[in-house]
Amino acid sequence: MARPLEYGEQVLLWEAGRGRTFSFVLREGEVFHSHKGSIPHGEIAGQPEGTRVFSNTGVEFVVFRPRLPERMMKVRRRTQIVYPKDAGWLALALDLAPGMRVVEMGTGSGAFTILLAQLVGPGGRVYTFDRREDFLENALENISRAGLSDRVEAGVLEAGEPFPVEGEVDAVFLDLPEPWLAVSPAYAVLAPGRPLAGIVPTAEQLKGFVASLEREGFVAVECVEILERRVLVREREGVRPFERMVGFTGYIVSARKALPAGKEEGCGG
Ligand SMILES: C[S@@+](CC[C@H](N)C(=O)[O-])C[C@H]1O[C@@H](n2cnc3c(N)ncnc32)[C@H](O)[C@@H]1O
Repeated sequence: MARPLEYGEQVLLWEAGRGRTFSFVLREGEVFHSHKGSIPHGEIAGQPEGTRVFSNTGVEFVVFRPRLPERMMKVRRRTQIVYPKDAGWLALALDLAPGMRVVEMGTGSGAFTILLAQLVGPGGRVYTFDRREDFLENALENISRAGLSDRVEAGVLEAGEPFPVEGEVDAVFLDLPEPWLAVSPAYAVLAPGRPLAGIVPTAEQLKGFVASLEREGFVAVECVEILERRVLVREREGVRPFERMVGFTGYIVSARKALPAGKEEGCGG
């Protein structure tokens, strides 16, 4: 049985034919307004996802629960965010599963935190840090709108300070302009063998990041740039890529924590 959409949930309206989307939280008594007309929230609450609704001006929409990339892209932005094209690769590199614990440095607008929080599930934990309290407040609102606050802990921290987390974590993600500042604290908090991943916007930052990873005892360093080109599929005008694309978002990096030579865990050395 399809679970009906409820008040308090985030929904996504997809405009039929055009694919433009609008996202908001369903509230009793409220009305969605846009240049495409208005729709009372009451016409959406109680319906299953996939329901077609019409605005007062006759524009057709289909209503959905936003998927993960839509929840990431619809955050209120105070910073640049990690784009879904990079987030997919990063999520695989971080090797997260339900119940795991992950540290994130550079919360920003919380877009990537939403992905981390979904992956670790209600039994996991995301510890996210940023130097800016106002960014953290905005990110926590975004995370709450995505319904994932129960597993996220946020704190003000300057890169380079030790992560205030008990025990070892399963993964570390870095998204800040000087990631090398956080590499040594990341090594200290990561369980042996586990991954670190990050994203940087320039080649100079990439070079500094990789050098610090190698210096601090990370191995299997991989650096990637991901290009995504959307394709138009049309009956008469032909099938071809869109002319416009997001050309560049960042260089993405992953690595794994190796123990120092002669220091295998559990062997007393
Ligand atoms: C690009 S944003 C992160 C975006 C985030 N990953 C997202 O998807 O929404 C980078 C963040 O790093 C934080 N930052 C920059 N330098 C920092 C430092 N030295 N210590 C702590 N945070 C820092 C900034 O305040 C900013 O919020």
